[in-house]
Amino acid sequence: MQYQEKKFTIPKLKGISAESIKQHLGLYAGYVKNFNAMTALAGELMKDSEKNAPAIAELMRRRSFEFGGMRLHELYFPQFEGGPKALSRDSMLGQVLKQQYNDSDYCLEEMRHVAGMRGPGWALLYFDQEAKQFLVGWSSEQHIGHFATLPIIVALDVWEHAFVLDYGAAGKGKYIDAFFENLNWSVCERRFADTQK
Ligand SMILES: [Fe+2]
Repeated sequence: MQYQEKKFTIPKLKGISAESIKQHLGLYAGYVKNFNAMTALAGELMKDSEKNAPAIAELMRRRSFEFGGMRLHELYFPQFEGGPKALSRDSMLGQVLKQQYNDSDYCLEEMRHVAGMRGPGWALLYFDQEAKQFLVGWSSEQHIGHFATLPIIVALDVWEHAFVLDYGAAGKGKYIDAFFENLNWSVCERRFADTQK
């Protein structure tokens, strides 16, 4: 099965330019395309799996990187759709965040801290239904560092391509502020509600 590039309706954002979003969407499209191409190539290489074993091993590792890039961006871009909306303290997400952090803003402090770490990657807010708690995580590459099986509630891309056009190489902090300014929390509230079904 071939994966299809999804389309997103992203409004004008504060502090993140349309050009930056356009280039970023182009990178996302590349992940979809590369994943499909690698899947097709793997099928070919498997026809002589013994001879092609080293190439298959490398391809399998790189293919999951492309898949992670595809899916994480499919979580990232919809968070801007519909325009910014504050977290509702009365929503299920708002209430459970408050139980864990006392003040629901605390998860933002943790998210900001993790997102601001040196190096490219993703700051991710997961929810572990088994332990009934949120976990903030860091994926340095798209497929590495995840809490396996846990759904992602907030996905913050802090690869340089997300901010360098608008803020320069040292502008990650300003971009993180802009991300939260533009975040439509109702998207994250829906994701959390889905974990409770
Ligand atoms: Fe990205």
